[in-house]
Amino acid sequence: MSELKCCVVSCDKPLDASYWESQYEAKTTGWDLGKVSPPIQTYVDTIANKNCGILIPGCGNSYEAEYLLEQGFTNLTVIDIAPTPMAVLKEKFKNNPNIQIILGDFFEHKGNYDLVLEQTFFCALPPTMRQKYVWKMHQLLADEGILAGLLFNRMFESGPPFGGSKEEYELLFTAAFDFLKMDVSENSIAPRANSELFFELKKNNQVVVNLYEFYGITCSDCMETITKKLAGIDCVLNVSISSNFAEVLIVSKNEIAIEVLQDVISYDEKYKIKKINP
Ligand SMILES: C[S@@+](CC[C@H](N)C(=O)[O-])C[C@H]1O[C@@H](n2cnc3c(N)ncnc32)[C@H](O)[C@@H]1O
Repeated sequence: MSELKCCVVSCDKPLDASYWESQYEAKTTGWDLGKVSPPIQTYVDTIANKNCGILIPGCGNSYEAEYLLEQGFTNLTVIDIAPTPMAVLKEKFKNNPNIQIILGDFFEHKGNYDLVLEQTFFCALPPTMRQKYVWKMHQLLADEGILAGLLFNRMFESGPPFGGSKEEYELLFTAAFDFLKMDVSENSIAPRANSELFFELKKNNQVVVNLYEFYGITCSDCMETITKKLAGIDCVLNVSISSNFAEVLIVSKNEIAIEVLQDVISYDEKYKIKKINP
C-alpha cells in the first residue's frame, strides 16, 4: 500500500500573505521578469476586443497589466495577496480608470471575467490547491470565458514554484474546460525555454463543477478506488482528488445529490464527503 504523500513545503511553511510579502520585502523575487512575459504579449496581441473583462490573479508587479493598458485595454482587474506590489501598482496607475487593483485573496474574490491570464500564479500555490484553482476559475469566468497563459512542464526539487506536466493538467482541467491549446511555448524567456506550456482553455458552461471536502483517504490506492467509484456515477464526467486527499473536484452533467455521492463511498464507513459552498 502506498504511503500518504503530503506537500512538504506547504506543510512546512504556509504560502500565505506573510510568506509572499516577506519575499517582496527581501527582494527575493526571482520570478519577476521586469517586463511582460513574451508568450503572454504574443497572446494579448491577438485579442481584438479591447473592452473584454480581464483578470490577472497573483499579479505581482504585473508588467502584463501595464502592457495591456498600453495596448488600449479598458477593463482590467489585478489581484494579489501581498501588499508591497499592490501598493506599487496603485501608485503607478493612480490616474488610470481602466484598471482595478485589489489587495486580497484570489480564492475569496467574486467577479465575472471574459479572460483570466495565468502567469506564475498556479505554480506558486501549494499543489494541494490545484482542484480548488480549477473550481474557482470556472466560477469566475463568463460563459465561454477563457483561461490562458503559462504552466510549467517540468518538476522542481522543492517549491514554490511547483511544477507539473501536460498529462497532469489534462486530467485536472478536463470536462470543466475545453482545450483550445496546450503546447510547449515557443517564445519563453531563456531560463524557461522548453519548460513552459502555453495553454488556452474555454470554460465549459454545460457542466456543473463542484468541490467537496473528503475525509478518510489515507493512501494513493484508496484514492484510486474512490476516484473510480465516483467516476462510475452516471452523469459524472471527471473526478480529481487533491494530492493531500482532502478535496475532490467533480465535474458532472447535472447537480448530484450529496446522498448519492455518500452512498457510493459508503462501502467503508470512514469515508465522508461534504460539499464546499462557493
Ligand atoms: C510567483 S509570484 C508571481 C507574480 C507575477 N504573476 C509574476 O509573474 O511576476 C506569485 C504571486 O502570487 C501571489 N499569491 C499567492 N497566493 C495568492 C492568493 N491566494 N491570492 C492572490 N495572490 C496570491 C503572491 O503574492 C505572488 O505575488
